[in-house]
Amino acid sequence: MVREWADGPAGEFMGGVNPYVRTSSVPLPTRPYRITVAGTGQVIEVHPEELPLGRDGRPGSLLDVLLHHGVKVDHACGGVVSCSTCHVIVRKGLSSCNPAEEAEEDMLDTAPGLTPQSRLSCQAVPNGSQDVVVEIPAWNRNQIKESDF
Ligand code: FES
Repeated sequence: MVREWADGPAGEFMGGVNPYVRTSSVPLPTRPYRITVAGTGQVIEVHPEELPLGRDGRPGSLLDVLLHHGVKVDHACGGVVSCSTCHVIVRKGLSSCNPAEEAEEDMLDTAPGLTPQSRLSCQAVPNGSQDVVVEIPAWNRNQIKESDF
């Protein structure tokens, strides 16, 4: 199943739209898989028929799933490829995720601690062919929070 994201029907599946970034649709997984959050022991069972779980990031993205399950991931722009605060490292299962598009790669270049396994969690959508292990970098903190004001 493919659900529209940036070009999709207004509001139903979108967490927001960056009008300056064109993105393509990404298929949702077709079978259940697990996301393990490295360093926490938390294991999340992902069931394709339940996706999307929220409104931030691409439907079925790592950000979508992690936020729904109470995993704190900064996402300053709401998942529209306008920041790098949702940077994660996909330690296992990276090849099961959609390839990064140019806009994501450009934004990732601004992320501290970039690795070959880095992705913006709002853009990476696993296809369910593998279980995924994701690390949320300690340095990946949004420097400005509403609580600071
Ligand atoms: S939340 Fe801003 S790019 Fe992912």
